[in-house]
Amino acid sequence: MSSSANRRVLSGMRPTGQLHLGHYHGVLKNWLKLQNEYECFFFVADWHALTTEYEAPQEIAGSVFDMVIDWLAAGINPGTAKLFIQSHIPEHAELHLLLSMCTPLSWLERVPSYKDQQEKLSNRDLTTYGFLGYPLLQSADILIYKAGNVPVGEDQVAHVELAREIARRFNYLYGREPGFEEKAEAAAKKLGKKNNKLYHDLRRSYQEQGDTLALDKARAMLVSQQNISIGDRERLYGYLEGGGKVIFPEPQALLSPASKMPGLDGQKMSKSYGNTINLRESPASVGEKIRTMPTDPARIRRSDPGDPDKCPVWGLHQVYSDDDLKQWVQAGCTTATIGCLDCKKPVVDAILREQSPIRERAKEYQKDKETVKAIIADGCEVARDVARETMEEVREAMGLDYT
Ligand code: TRP
Ligand code: SF4
Repeated sequence: MSSSANRRVLSGMRPTGQLHLGHYHGVLKNWLKLQNEYECFFFVADWHALTTEYEAPQEIAGSVFDMVIDWLAAGINPGTAKLFIQSHIPEHAELHLLLSMCTPLSWLERVPSYKDQQEKLSNRDLTTYGFLGYPLLQSADILIYKAGNVPVGEDQVAHVELAREIARRFNYLYGREPGFEEKAEAAAKKLGKKNNKLYHDLRRSYQEQGDTLALDKARAMLVSQQNISIGDRERLYGYLEGGGKVIFPEPQALLSPASKMPGLDGQKMSKSYGNTINLRESPASVGEKIRTMPTDPARIRRSDPGDPDKCPVWGLHQVYSDDDLKQWVQAGCTTATIGCLDCKKPVVDAILREQSPIRERAKEYQKDKETVKAIIADGCEVARDVARETMEEVREAMGLDYT
């Protein structure tokens, strides 16, 4: 099933401490855009956090609610996007287990993040079963909602690719449901007389003559059908090509625009580099952090000219300043007509302006934990209904629905 047909978006974030401006510019702003265009499910990946933080799970517990508050404060709209917690939907674990039965070990061992992270986090023992299964759990997260689109950063693309392979394998192994043809024919009847005929004509053109244009047309027609269920749609997709039922549509990575948010030292903003400004950092602390930020080392005295390209503050101007302001920095820095504190001032102002409404909204939510809990409960309920339905289908496909 193509992603354009499947308007469901799913993404998760691990609760490992306070969110910072890197998360805001790299992930949350993208989510804000998507929530108006797609049916969005966003969740707290607490089990994923546990794969690396299993020795200190208390930290996870402490971050779960704060992270949801950060999302809401940033403008995620719970009326549109569904927010939930992974561990509240135990079906993820059941699907992870069932998928583990048919996942070759080598598929997991060759996911690049497996070895990379083990080397990077060498202070922890990550030679665990759970850590090896990290991307498979992620596949279960994605597939259980039949999400077509998964917004992720570059480092997660290989995980979505694994989810595609898992979906394909599962469909191949278990997609041959008994009575498939009859069910597909019954689904085609629900398209109405005209579209039913069109569907069969196009299907024949594709199957008899390999006419891929006809295949595309038939798919496009299915996309425009509002009143058939996801299950029927997947049957009709599978039937077009002659195969079995598509239980799991193949998800696609929606690569988030690379975050240009630099940290205080000019490297990518990241908790592990200790160069972050938190989303809800106090104004005093923001001011202090920017004031003490390093600048072009050539500017020892106020009268020494500098080069913005050698200065991490310039990176922040790229994010926050318009062309006029940037020109002022270029001219002032290279001629030593402005000082570094002059140069930093508009950056501090811009960050405070950005954070102010976020901080205000966060304060409201913090005072009103019940509302946050209700938002999560509502999201969990919707998510769980979808997850339960998928699991019924999965158990049936695998022949595990004995009573
Ligand atoms: N692994 C993701 C990360 O570290 C988090 C995650 C877990 C996720 N499950 C997911 C992202 C499913 C997208 C879809 O950022
Ligand atoms: Fe950096 Fe601005 Fe100082 Fe130049 S004037 S070195 S760009 S802080």
